[in-house]
Amino acid sequence: MRIAGRVALVTGGGGGIGAALARRLAAGGAAAVVIADIDRPTAAALAHEVGGDFHVVDVGDRCAVEAMVAAVLARHGRIDLLCANAGVIEGSGLPVAGDETFGGVFASDEAWLRSWSVNLMGQVHAIRAVLPAMLGRGEGHLLVTASAAGLLTDLGSLAYTVTKHASVGLAEWLAITYRGRGIGVSCLCPMGVRTSMLEAAQARGEAAHLTADAIDAETVAAVAVEGIESNRFLILPHPQVSAYFRGKADDPERWIEAMSRHRARLYGEWSPSPERPDGGEVR
Ligand SMILES: NC(=O)c1ccc[n+]([C@@H]2O[C@H](COP(=O)([O-])OP(=O)(O)OC[C@H]3O[C@@H](n4cnc5c(N)ncnc54)[C@H](O)[C@@H]3O)[C@@H](O)[C@H]2O)c1
Repeated sequence: MRIAGRVALVTGGGGGIGAALARRLAAGGAAAVVIADIDRPTAAALAHEVGGDFHVVDVGDRCAVEAMVAAVLARHGRIDLLCANAGVIEGSGLPVAGDETFGGVFASDEAWLRSWSVNLMGQVHAIRAVLPAMLGRGEGHLLVTASAAGLLTDLGSLAYTVTKHASVGLAEWLAITYRGRGIGVSCLCPMGVRTSMLEAAQARGEAAHLTADAIDAETVAAVAVEGIESNRFLILPHPQVSAYFRGKADDPERWIEAMSRHRARLYGEWSPSPERPDGGEVR
């Protein structure tokens, strides 16, 4: 889908990748760029910057998303492009020696549910709200921001990894189902991107595997918009993800072994072996 003249809605558009997408879409000649974000000041600032409007909304709240989409349709008449981009990392944390219950599968139910609510259902709510009108017109494009964690694994957060896999599944199903009805679907799967999400993970000591290859949000937005305009399904701003994904599919045993070693090298591993009864760090 060509961006010029289109009406775009960007969730999580107040900061990070969403803000870079909004700027790129506006620069590409979009007729209107609407920012939907839970954070009022950033949403308002971005909307002012790109000459668009904004809505303060929690994408995990179905009724609020439906009301927001209805308001956008009432004002602009249509939504050509939905960037379902808002996402969170909750309940993350690398298991550390002496504390098996930190992060991972032991994250709280609240953290699991919040991850599910924002990272998956937030996208479902928005897509469900915009899709009927797109299908009625026989055209539209859905950009689903998943993550390389949805194709591979994020070492620092299990709930993030699981919900991003769900997001990739959502995008794939939609692409297959609606391709013949004029709806384009793209699935954006970056590795590390220098945003506040990565900064927070770095501050928690969980992002060592991401920082070396981290790229700017502006680069991600440029690759994403090129992918939308080419109607490409899988958008990989880090080209190496393609090789990793192929390697995982070709030899899953080798993949798990290599990732396990990589993880131990980066973060250390609690070993319950008899030689190390107190649980030492194995690197
Ligand atoms: N930064 C990375 O390394 C990276 C890598 C791969 C994928 N992603 C994905 O890209 C997307 C954007 O991430 P980012 O790095 O820009 O994060 P970010 O934290 O910098 O920005 C996220 C934006 O979403 C908003 N937001 C958060 N929860 C919301 C909610 N419930 N409802 C509405 N808005 C909400 C925030 O206010 C913020 O403006 C996410 O889906 C994330 O999982 C990020």
